Amino acid sequence: MTAVSLADPSAQIAADAVVVGVVSSSDGPQLAPGAKPVDAALGTRLVTALKAAGASGKPDEVTKIPTLGLAPFGLVVATGLGPDAKQSEQVRRGVGAALRALTGKKHVHIAIDAPLDAVAEGALLGTYAFTTYKSSATKPALRKITIAAKSAPAATAALRRARIVAEAVFAARDFINTPPNDLYPESFAARASEHAATQKLSVEVLDPRALARGKFGGILAVGSGSTRLPRLVRITYRPTNPKARIALVGKGITFDSGGLNIKTANMAAMTSDMSGAAAVVAAVVAIAALKLPVEVTATVPMAENLPSGSAYRPSDVLTMRNGQTVEVSDTDAEGRLVLADGIARALEDDPDYLIEASTLTGAQVVALGTRVIGAMGEAGLRDRVAAAGNAAGELVWAMPLPDEMRSGLDSPFADISSLSSEKGGGMLVAGLFLADFMPEGQPWVHLDIAGPAWNSGGARDYTPKGATGAAVRTIIAAAEDLAGR
Ligand code: BES
Ligand code: MN
Ligand code: ZN
Repeated sequence: MTAVSLADPSAQIAADAVVVGVVSSSDGPQLAPGAKPVDAALGTRLVTALKAAGASGKPDEVTKIPTLGLAPFGLVVATGLGPDAKQSEQVRRGVGAALRALTGKKHVHIAIDAPLDAVAEGALLGTYAFTTYKSSATKPALRKITIAAKSAPAATAALRRARIVAEAVFAARDFINTPPNDLYPESFAARASEHAATQKLSVEVLDPRALARGKFGGILAVGSGSTRLPRLVRITYRPTNPKARIALVGKGITFDSGGLNIKTANMAAMTSDMSGAAAVVAAVVAIAALKLPVEVTATVPMAENLPSGSAYRPSDVLTMRNGQTVEVSDTDAEGRLVLADGIARALEDDPDYLIEASTLTGAQVVALGTRVIGAMGEAGLRDRVAAAGNAAGELVWAMPLPDEMRSGLDSPFADISSLSSEKGGGMLVAGLFLADFMPEGQPWVHLDIAGPAWNSGGARDYTPKGATGAAVRTIIAAAEDLAGR
């Protein structure tokens, strides 16, 4: 990852490009705080130049102004921050958009006086590129970012946290962007284990024989159609004297064809159906790097959902890890089956809190779109996690789990059906299915990230095309909250 450090705001600027903020106002574009030294080096002509270039200061507007040899830096990159330059997420997005426009540079300096954590996080997140499968040479990565700010212990701590958070988001994006011919349960388990080793975390990988011994009926059934057999990965961070014990669970379907109920649309995007798994693996490693005083175990079921002669069928009745039986109504509702097993295993450790993330339903995309994560579960933890996520710059919205809808999941033969007999509310139905595996009084939250996990549109702010790393920052922020930070 690109190195990021502080630079004294009064020192001479030496960089290939300098980023300044532009605020939109009724009087036209204005320079955001921190731009003065840059403007001074250019004879205070920056606003005139911005107006001439048609800049307004609106979000995701990046204006490049060459300095024609008049300054010790060749380029000013003015990034729109919208009307409020103090709002952290606007800063994060604006700085991210600027850095995304600066690939190929060596040293970028940021002259924006705004919350340092947001500046650093936006800058680092904006530098992401997934080039593993590009055979022709790509531009060399940016080597150095400096941010104009006085050095102080709080500033150093903010930079350290931003690096750890960005590394976690990058790790999740890399897992997700790796195609399913290379990332399948066995290889995903190996890569997750390698990532956990960077923080010396303890790792347990259950192979298909261990899954059978452990009676993980949901994971085994979903994974039975593929020659790439399933795994269950458990990664634990155990500090001394933890203030709380947190279970993370993530859906790790390395490819979701739908199984025998094969998908008829958008199948290719189902390379991202392990985004919940990627988020919790990245988050537990980040929580360890941050040395938060909470014990965390990520429990990650990994399976590939394919049709074949050995595949599970609609109408199968499965016995899950905890002994509950499930009637399979549709093999494309596979996420809840692997999650039920993962949740059952996680609960055997008696965690204080359980946070689960998954690309669970197309209904989430219908209801909330591609920007907003749906949060369901026990109201206390649900609202706490949603608040932490929103404060960290992700959009998280609480959704209900109405008791009235539970009867739709009744099965004539099994304890529960995997689909509801009632129409509509598919996101809530999936949440209610998971609720059946939670004991009374357990604080838990389910984050449906089906829409936000994968950006099929163009790159924007600090968000690239493809994997976004959705839920990583929310889970880290929630852990900080639960740790009392
Ligand atoms: N992985 C999908 C959900 C999904 C859809 C994620 C679109 C991201 C984008 C999930 O396994 C699935 O297929 N869900 C079905 C459930 C249905 C069969 C009850 C769905 O949403 O259609
Ligand atoms: Mn599916
Ligand atoms: Zn799926």
